[in-house]
Amino acid sequence: MKYDFTTILDRDGKDSIAVNPTEMYGINVPTREGFRRIPMWVADMSFPTCPTVTEAMIERIKHPCFGYFEPSQEYYDSIIRWQKHRHGFDVKKEEIGYENGVLGGVLTALKVLCSDGDNVLLNSPTYIGFTNSIGGNGYNMVLSPLKKDEQGIWRMDLADMEEKIKQYQIHVAVLCNPYNPCGRVWEKEELKAVMDLYEKYEVWVISDEIWADLVLNGHTHIPAHTVSEYAHTHTVTQYAPSKTFSLAGISGSYHICFNKWLNDRLAKEASTTHYNTMSVLWMHALIGGYRREGEEWVEELCEVLSDNVNYACDFIRDHFEGVTVAKPEGTYMLFLDCENWCKANNCDMDTLLRKGVEYGVLWQDGRPFHDPYAIRMNLAVPKELVIEAFDRLNRYVFHTEEAK
Ligand SMILES: Cc1ncc(COP(=O)(O)O)c(C=O)c1O
Repeated sequence: MKYDFTTILDRDGKDSIAVNPTEMYGINVPTREGFRRIPMWVADMSFPTCPTVTEAMIERIKHPCFGYFEPSQEYYDSIIRWQKHRHGFDVKKEEIGYENGVLGGVLTALKVLCSDGDNVLLNSPTYIGFTNSIGGNGYNMVLSPLKKDEQGIWRMDLADMEEKIKQYQIHVAVLCNPYNPCGRVWEKEELKAVMDLYEKYEVWVISDEIWADLVLNGHTHIPAHTVSEYAHTHTVTQYAPSKTFSLAGISGSYHICFNKWLNDRLAKEASTTHYNTMSVLWMHALIGGYRREGEEWVEELCEVLSDNVNYACDFIRDHFEGVTVAKPEGTYMLFLDCENWCKANNCDMDTLLRKGVEYGVLWQDGRPFHDPYAIRMNLAVPKELVIEAFDRLNRYVFHTEEAK
């Protein structure tokens, strides 16, 4: 490989909740002597970012003035080129808006499209950030559970979604594509069907596509706004380089919206807070990542992540009886279902989670994602650490009397 996905970075003391979580994240169990902490929970990567990202930021830092600025033409051209190359659609400068983060972008859109306390349709299991920000801002999240089909693939339940749209008079839905935490990369037909449903009931769509670039094992990301004329004109899509290049620590994201009325409303709403301003370093980071080299880097990254995911899913199937997982098609998250294991071993979720962390596997409680027996695991670490983590889970957590 041309790029570095094998170095084990020491992130300790380097501004990272992945390895230094504070109390509030609930994984503050001390790790036993001799077990290094493997960061496998919050959604950032333990790989060095694409070299062109850092180069672009360093180049900008050499000029010692950081005053007010407007996004450059190069910035817009970078997004336009990236979206065309990676996701096959055309977008114009005036259809791109800035947001200080995807969750902030979702909230801006909700402010425009909803009145206080409105019902908003989402699916469950639900990304905890949606619950905290959407629920936390007083909207009523109406959840339609995803269901596994006969092949164990998570699917949207259109009949249930339609029922809920009617019952709760829903006119706004948040779609997550690819889906965190279940890892689905929605197929064109699925997106078309859900957009047809939204068209029937005049539901506006906020499509969170922050994971768009991270697709595994040959899957293809389809932007939801491309599947129909209605989707094109009734969707605001949230994108960011933050998952792609692991840049969450230098906040920033952008939305794409082809509806001028909505785009104007979003810009107005975002401007009233005065908080939604771009950092010049973030702009240069994006420009650095969205180059040809950035594309090559992401292609290698997706191979590495596919390999990690394949290894982990095979390992779980072969070694952890009672634990199931639908192999993610995108993202780098595994969403383990531990219900049968917990019941067969008479072990509760708190104990299971604690044991993992004691042995240095920093994994995440899936219950706040609305699933009583789930654990979320992040596989964006060098393969050596994936192997080490699963070996420890095998020896000390899933196969020991101590676990109980
Ligand atoms: C689906 C989804 N949306 C949004 C975010 C957070 O984005 P931001 O940090 O830009 O608010 C995440 C982070 O994990 C995510 O998985």
